[in-house]
Amino acid sequence: MRDIGYTLESALADVIDNAIAAGATDVHIYVDTTTPNVKLGIIDNGSGMSRTELLSAMRLGSRNPRNGRATGDLGRFGLGMKTASFSQCRRLTVVARKGGVASAAVWDLDHVASTDQWELLTPDHIEDIPFVDQLTGDGALVLWERMDRAIEQQASNAALRHFVQRLDESRSHLELVFHRYLAGERGRRRVRILLNALPLNAFDPFHASHPATLKGQTEIVQVAGEEVTITPFTLPHHRNVTKAEWEHYARPEGYLKTQGFYLYREGRLIVHGTWFGLARQAELTKLCRVRIDMPATLDSQWHVDVKKSFARPPLQVRERLQRLIGEIGAPSRRIYERRGRTLYEAKLPMWSRVQADNAIVYRLNGENPMLSDFLLSLPTSHRANFERLCRVISASLPMDALFADLAGSPDAVKHEALDDALFGDLLRRTLAALAAKGVEPRLIPPMLRAAEPFRSNWERTEDMLDAINGEAN
Ligand SMILES: Nc1ncnc2c1ncn2[C@@H]1O[C@H](COP(=O)(O)OP(=O)(O)OP(=O)(O)O)[C@@H](O)[C@H]1O
Ligand SMILES: [Mg+2]
Repeated sequence: MRDIGYTLESALADVIDNAIAAGATDVHIYVDTTTPNVKLGIIDNGSGMSRTELLSAMRLGSRNPRNGRATGDLGRFGLGMKTASFSQCRRLTVVARKGGVASAAVWDLDHVASTDQWELLTPDHIEDIPFVDQLTGDGALVLWERMDRAIEQQASNAALRHFVQRLDESRSHLELVFHRYLAGERGRRRVRILLNALPLNAFDPFHASHPATLKGQTEIVQVAGEEVTITPFTLPHHRNVTKAEWEHYARPEGYLKTQGFYLYREGRLIVHGTWFGLARQAELTKLCRVRIDMPATLDSQWHVDVKKSFARPPLQVRERLQRLIGEIGAPSRRIYERRGRTLYEAKLPMWSRVQADNAIVYRLNGENPMLSDFLLSLPTSHRANFERLCRVISASLPMDALFADLAGSPDAVKHEALDDALFGDLLRRTLAALAAKGVEPRLIPPMLRAAEPFRSNWERTEDMLDAINGEAN
């Protein structure tokens, strides 16, 4: 039972589920790492439990998963509190207070092992239990001691540091999992969660507050008379957000791995960053995240597991998602392709993007004024050679390296800088070529703006245009 696969963060989330189900508005996680025997307490101000309720709650399988639950109840199996706790510690104490009356019960796995009896302990001196002074009104305290799984016993400094780092990671996991409760979205009670007195901040994986985020149509699928809602989002392109925002929404795993469906059960995130095997996590769809909301009443259709970290969509939903995926990818793909297309249409750029027969080829553009001028300046005997050289350069574009660099750190990939003389020369030749083609002057700036290197040096281009126009007048 200790090995069903919880992590520190999924175990914490399971205990917090119970607090939320009990109507808590405040959940405090306290971790004492000052003694070698690390202790962790989770305290809520929910409804608490009477002594009888507590004794029943300590049973494994205290509830029947087939029995219905009140809406907003995040539990299902009657297992979570025990399995989550045992995955992290050898001694679980629960103190519950209801109507001012406190009761306590303890599962001590060492006691169970030495006596070979499943004997629940009921301590007499509740006031001596660590963190119990923080349980001021009705509510519950879940205490983990002898945390042999989270941290090695006789903790070395290195083990302790590792544990503190795991706590940090758990914080950001909980900020994601409970973000809709932390933010207090409409129709949902707001819950504050604090780790060692530091409040958690809601992390919205859809960055819905940003104007450049594209929110798609919400769809509703009926499953066994209940509604599942599906809303696709496309996150802003990195050019539309600050570097800090881009990093923040990438999460440590990066955009590629965090694309996919985000499945919420009663507003609590249970699965994320997967296409449920219906599509690959591709570079082109890395900005797509799709919100799916399901009610707890559909647990068995979705095969939700004890840890609340696995689920599989029922057939009706799968079919709908499969069809959606094609369309879902489209806005994200557009964000990336727009640049390529405008450049191509303008015919100014040094590189042209040619699309044919399901292939995209980048080629040095013979119509570019600088290239065509140069070609004409060559003695005829050299022209064929130059054209051959251009074709070889086009064929040697280091695509894998570009792709990897852009995927890894898009901000760090830059064009080589051009000095003013060269840049000015290029601009003059381009203007002359456009004039020779009879392009209307007012159309020239937008054309330049769409083509490199003017596009990424736009201020400089404008300054030079002003200077050139000044000379002309
Ligand atoms: N913080 C709490 N406040 C009040 N009651 C609680 C609290 N924690 C647990 N309980 C009670 O204990 C019961 C058992 O909790 P447990 O997490 O083991 O199972 P569950 O929540 O019913 O289902 P699941 O296995 O899906 O988590 C709950 O159903 C609830 O009645
Ligand atoms: Mg539970």
